[in-house]
Amino acid sequence: MKKILILDGSTRKQGNTSIMVEHFINGAKNNTDQIEHIIAKDLKIEYCNGCLRCNLIKRCSISGDDWNELSEKIADSDVLVFASPIYFHYVTSPLKKIIDRFRSLIHVQITEQSVRHTPWQKWNKDFVLLLSMGSSDDVDAQPVVDLFEYMKEVMGEENRLHVVKATRLAVIKQVIKTEDELKQLYPKLELPVKLAKQDALNNKMILESCFKLGKKISHV
Ligand SMILES: Cc1cc2nc3c(=O)[nH]c(=O)nc-3n(C[C@H](O)[C@H](O)[C@H](O)COP(=O)(O)O)c2cc1C
Repeated sequence: MKKILILDGSTRKQGNTSIMVEHFINGAKNNTDQIEHIIAKDLKIEYCNGCLRCNLIKRCSISGDDWNELSEKIADSDVLVFASPIYFHYVTSPLKKIIDRFRSLIHVQITEQSVRHTPWQKWNKDFVLLLSMGSSDDVDAQPVVDLFEYMKEVMGEENRLHVVKATRLAVIKQVIKTEDELKQLYPKLELPVKLAKQDALNNKMILESCFKLGKKISHV
């Protein structure tokens, strides 16, 4: 059975990101019950302090926070999900704090020509990104996709990346709003009401993509 760990960067409960995660989990439940959903802001995670001792001691030198326990769960997972609203073209800060601590999972060697990254443990995982954003264009999520393309490269060629990008989700629970609800909402957001029909359909497709990806990725 696949082990799925979800790192959820959302800063509010019941938001668009949580709803996307819920649908992903419902899909995954078809094949596994080994699913853990962690809300990043509920963890005690210190900032990476840049000491780089990890390069020598093969672990993070910071103690007294939740990183050690979390890093064991990360290592143990087959599927690692990063869910986040897009904040200023990036993940939210609770999630970024965790991502920076990934530095302690790899050895970095700077050579004359390049930088060589070698994870302390071999990784063969599916990375999943579930990203929600307010803009109409998913270009705002590109820096996050780029980051994870890089992460996949650093952690080894065997790793895979899957992305769901959800646009035009400016207010809470917008992803489950009906066409009529969107029609009422759009004047307040200064969006043309005529978009409501297509957006309601798009929302359904977003949640279906999350469900299907959860189901597919959890299949052994
Ligand atoms: C501080 C902040 C920054 C944001 N920056 C962006 C952005 O750069 N691009 C974008 O498309 N949406 C941006 N948004 C909108 C959120 O990404 C969007 O509403 C998302 O669906 C919220 O997810 P949630 O309901 O899970 O909290 C921002 C929202 C906040 C509060």
